[in-house]
Amino acid sequence: MNLFDAIHTRRTIKEFTAQPVPDDLLHRALDAGRWAQNHRMSEPWRFVILGPQSQRAIAAISGDVLVQTARADAETLAKMRADAEAKILSKPRVVAVTCCLCGDKEVETEDYAAVACAVQNIQLAAWGLGLGMQWSTSHFTTRPMTYELLGVDPAREMIVGLLYFGYPAVVPDPKPRKPLAEVARTLP
Ligand SMILES: Cc1cc2nc3c(=O)[nH]c(=O)nc-3n(C[C@H](O)[C@H](O)[C@H](O)COP(=O)(O)O)c2cc1C
Repeated sequence: MNLFDAIHTRRTIKEFTAQPVPDDLLHRALDAGRWAQNHRMSEPWRFVILGPQSQRAIAAISGDVLVQTARADAETLAKMRADAEAKILSKPRVVAVTCCLCGDKEVETEDYAAVACAVQNIQLAAWGLGLGMQWSTSHFTTRPMTYELLGVDPAREMIVGLLYFGYPAVVPDPKPRKPLAEVARTLP
């Protein structure tokens, strides 16, 4: 795939077919993340690839957090929990991305940017391999129980998000972007 085609056609994919994601394709996409630009070469990205058991556990956390924060009757809460869990279980593969914390705020800002570059690399690489991906930062992804489940020490790493991978069932239309002339200005 041509580079500009990949950049322009890449979409956030939320609905996937049931077709499993081959491990080698997942690893190739993640491997592209390692090649992101990175000031000081701290290589701050870490990936936690979830298996079926941990995916079920994180789906349960998603349901728990939703129910803890919602106000509704018991029947509605039970349905909300079931829907939240089903949503996570519908993702063919889940990978958590974290950023190492070095204790220096300036470097940590750069490192977070580098991890975002890695995620973009991963999503574009996945797209080129025929896979869709969504970067999720939704309600439960940074809760203490999620850190515990993933075995991530919050003093050493921050969770940057969960990546959902699969073969696209629906490719949404692109959301409009402001024209370049609106977001760029040239100084004399
Ligand atoms: C840091 C970050 C967090 C995101 N978190 C979510 C999320 O929690 N849920 C979601 O549906 N999309 C999430 N997205 C994806 C955006 O919604 C998506 O990129 C945007 O709607 C534009 O669509 P496109 O990626 O198809 O061009 C996130 C994107 C970024 C960069």
